[in-house]
Amino acid sequence: MMSSGLGVIAYVQSVLILDDENHVPRCLQVIHLSWYRCTLNMNTSLRTLNTYVMRNDQAVWITGASSGIGEQLASKFAREGANLILSARNTENLQKVKDRLSSGPGKVFLLPMDLEKLDEIPEKAEVAFARFGKVDILVHNAAVALRDYALDTLMKTDQKLMAINYFGPVCLTKQVLPHMLERESGQIVVISSLTGKFGVPRTSSYAASKHALHGFFESLRSEIAGRGVKITMVVPGIIQTRITAHALTGSGTFHDRVEETFRKAYSPEKAAEKILKAIRRRKEEVYVGGLEWITLAINRISPWLLRRFIRNHPIRFVRNLKQKLTLHLKLSG
Ligand SMILES: NC(=O)c1ccc[n+]([C@@H]2O[C@H](COP(=O)([O-])OP(=O)(O)OC[C@H]3O[C@@H](n4cnc5c(N)ncnc54)[C@H](OP(=O)(O)O)[C@@H]3O)[C@@H](O)[C@H]2O)c1
Repeated sequence: MMSSGLGVIAYVQSVLILDDENHVPRCLQVIHLSWYRCTLNMNTSLRTLNTYVMRNDQAVWITGASSGIGEQLASKFAREGANLILSARNTENLQKVKDRLSSGPGKVFLLPMDLEKLDEIPEKAEVAFARFGKVDILVHNAAVALRDYALDTLMKTDQKLMAINYFGPVCLTKQVLPHMLERESGQIVVISSLTGKFGVPRTSSYAASKHALHGFFESLRSEIAGRGVKITMVVPGIIQTRITAHALTGSGTFHDRVEETFRKAYSPEKAAEKILKAIRRRKEEVYVGGLEWITLAINRISPWLLRRFIRNHPIRFVRNLKQKLTLHLKLSG
């Protein structure tokens, strides 16, 4: 209200300055101009402030909150005073996350759920709404990765990945979005991946599920434009979590090994901080991570070139580049 009021004042003043240029004495014009600039600055600052201020009654539902990025997001939101609904399959791990949070006990509600069980999702959503009466922010973070070649992956593994990573979030969105639209307020945050932008070896169904999320939520965004609900797509690079240990092999067993690249990757805490900033700014899409952003840039300029890099092990390429850059920075600094 206040910022739009200031905007109107600034606009009227700009008209005055432009129209009265020949009639208003010079000193008055200078005073007018300074006041005009000052109100414009205040206007911008207030708008920026609005994006950062967190009402502490906001209800945030995070899926996949039992580890990695989800856990870090829960911790950031808790620090801002949000009411949290935390979901994942492993209740014990969820409880550990809750115990580590700084929130009061009444502000964190554990809602264990398996996104693969689509028929249970409507009931889970009812329970979530009953707890805080609303969901202001829904974060689709839960996912399972794949570590195997497409031809060695059983169809049942492909289907499992699509169910957890794609159909689960779609089903949950269909439960939560109507309430948000009714209140003309809310935000859906989708944690995608670089593999949601281009495919890399041994991730076929995982990449497919992340591509599908972009297709679904981009379409949805245009369908609900102007109705008060925002969609934020998050594209993480390589983040230091146990995602590769939790990943499935083609036969459906756990990969059970944290890959080297993920051991030294971008910190999940920093990733959560960046994601939170993007949520507050209601961004449509944001990249979060380290130097892997280069692959996104190459893909934008020349998908053909990126495909050639990928065939020649892009991770190795990025790692080498990182080492070269670090060495260069050390030598020059
Ligand atoms: N780490 C990276 O480098 C990276 C890169 C790009 C994108 N991402 C994305 O970031 C998000 C978080 O990944 P992360 O790195 O934090 O991995 P993570 O530590 O393995 O976390 C995955 C979360 O999903 C939950 N989950 C798995 N299957 C589920 C199911 N059937 N139903 C409900 N919850 C389920 C897991 O909890 P339970 O096992 O207890 O159910 C866990 O809390 C994912 O969407 C991932 O695709 C990560």
